[in-house]
Amino acid sequence: MKRSEPLRIGVLASGRGSNLQAIIDAIEGGKLECRLAVVVSDRSDAQALERARKHGTEAVFLDPRAHPDREAFDRAVLGVLEKHRVDLVCLAGYMRIVTPALVRALAGRIMNIHPALLPSFPGLHAQRQALQYGVKVSGASVHFVDEGVDTGPIILQAAVPVREDDTEETLAARILEQEHQLYPRAIRLYAEGRLEIRGRRVHIRERDNPAGKRGGVAMDQGTKKLLLEAMRLPPEARAALAGQLLESLDEGVDEGAEGLWGAEIARRIEELEAGKVRAVPWAEARRQIMRPAGESSGS
Ligand code: GRF
Repeated sequence: MKRSEPLRIGVLASGRGSNLQAIIDAIEGGKLECRLAVVVSDRSDAQALERARKHGTEAVFLDPRAHPDREAFDRAVLGVLEKHRVDLVCLAGYMRIVTPALVRALAGRIMNIHPALLPSFPGLHAQRQALQYGVKVSGASVHFVDEGVDTGPIILQAAVPVREDDTEETLAARILEQEHQLYPRAIRLYAEGRLEIRGRRVHIRERDNPAGKRGGVAMDQGTKKLLLEAMRLPPEARAALAGQLLESLDEGVDEGAEGLWGAEIARRIEELEAGKVRAVPWAEARRQIMRPAGESSGS
């Protein structure tokens, strides 16, 4: 579902802000149609505040010591978010545990990123925990925030192998690369209205189906052109090609795979035209192109 106004994001961050930067870069690079409305930090020296200002976003420091308790602090946070008409709140290296009151006020509109494959290694020092436990694979998770610590419904995850010689720092750096891909993707899915929380599970809906798309598939320009060309083939070849193509397209394609479809279709059409094959096995082509959920590289 496309919104008429871009989604307004508020980011809460306590430190370096590299995830915030990934969000900013995705917005500035046109990959994320959102507006960064405000960045709030509980630390005056957070690099995240600098990054926000550089992007032209209001950066607000709220001093925890100026508030009698955590509830009062979170009320102040909520006040800032409301003032900036924030639709979605993203915790990005926010080192405070948020109060139930804040979570309830933002239910279903607040996400966090965590440097492990939840439910493994919640809380602090996730990378150290992973190394100490001896896992061979760790990763990153983006999840909705509930009242527990890193326990909310999971939106996206990415796996990262642990190497023999990994230290906390090298593992953290490798996980961070994945975090920077994952967070903007999760936000984009939210902005597109495609996330639906069903109990513990977050269902990711297919894209909407406006003009230029068929079934759950977004067709890029190249694909469309090839399809039209296919329509001009002699009737027999056209039937073999276009019919199967359309049928398989109806089944939906992993998001971001449109470019691969374009290339695959071109290759299959060439084979058909060169007389190498008599019909195109589109179902097989589709299996080659589609990858398991979560492995999409298309964002
Ligand atoms: C990230 O590893 C994030 O997953 C965790 O804290 C770290 C924040 O890094 N919650 P940055 O401030 O975004 O660079």
